[in-house]
Amino acid sequence: MTDGGSGGAFPRHIGVIMDGNGRWARMQGKARTQGHLEGLKAAKRIVKAASDMGVSWLTLYTFSTENWKRAREEVSFIMGLVKRYLRGELDFYRQNRIRIRHAGDPEGLPRDIRGELEAACAETRDFEGMQVILALNYGGRDEIIRGIAKLLARNADPPTEAGFRLYLDNPDIPDPDLIIRSAGEWRTSNFLLWGGAYAEYYVSEKLWPDWTGEDLEMAVSRFRERERRYGGAEA
Ligand code: IPE
Ligand code: IPE
Ligand code: MG
Repeated sequence: MTDGGSGGAFPRHIGVIMDGNGRWARMQGKARTQGHLEGLKAAKRIVKAASDMGVSWLTLYTFSTENWKRAREEVSFIMGLVKRYLRGELDFYRQNRIRIRHAGDPEGLPRDIRGELEAACAETRDFEGMQVILALNYGGRDEIIRGIAKLLARNADPPTEAGFRLYLDNPDIPDPDLIIRSAGEWRTSNFLLWGGAYAEYYVSEKLWPDWTGEDLEMAVSRFRERERRYGGAEA
């Protein structure tokens, strides 16, 4: 792991709300779909940069449970991009030993996307490098509700906080340390509601398609200046 500058602990798990593809396209006088295409390129740059920096888990908010409200053409374009990404990047994951995982409800995904996702997860499951968690058809409330349904189906004892996390999508993955949002919006938009309870937030005005590894480095170095208190008092 590279040190990445002076300061506090390095974030092990980073979540990214990749926002601003549509605005980027509008500013270029292009269709929204072009923005998503450029957003995919940015996602590839950030995956590479995070892997090089020694991040252990990178959760990418790719498609929310609310994003189905968009025009059918836009939704199917995004799904097509995801499919292409999963297929086209397999050599890259192999070279970099990157494991692909999913957060969100697989049931709501188109059958072919779900198949592609399952194949990529299976193909990379033994890789011990960084884990990229694609939050796809993901909503924080939905994750909690699905968790409760799993718990009830097991007829389990009343849960504790530590016990309930076993019913989340990826119980073995630690809570995110840092959540980054591009395109200047100060809201969670239903991302990692449970796990993100004590995440440090970093909001950047820069639109997602313009993001490079340097922007990630900046976010990490700002994170390392923060004092995390978890409700306690200053030392
Ligand atoms: C993020 O960019 C991508 C997805 C939500 C899929 P947007 O498409 O939300 O871009 P803006 O917010 O309209 O600029
Ligand atoms: C959040 O962005 C979802 C993803 C980045 C996938 P949105 O663009 O959907 O969020 P809102 O609508 O601005 O809150
Ligand atoms: Mg948006």
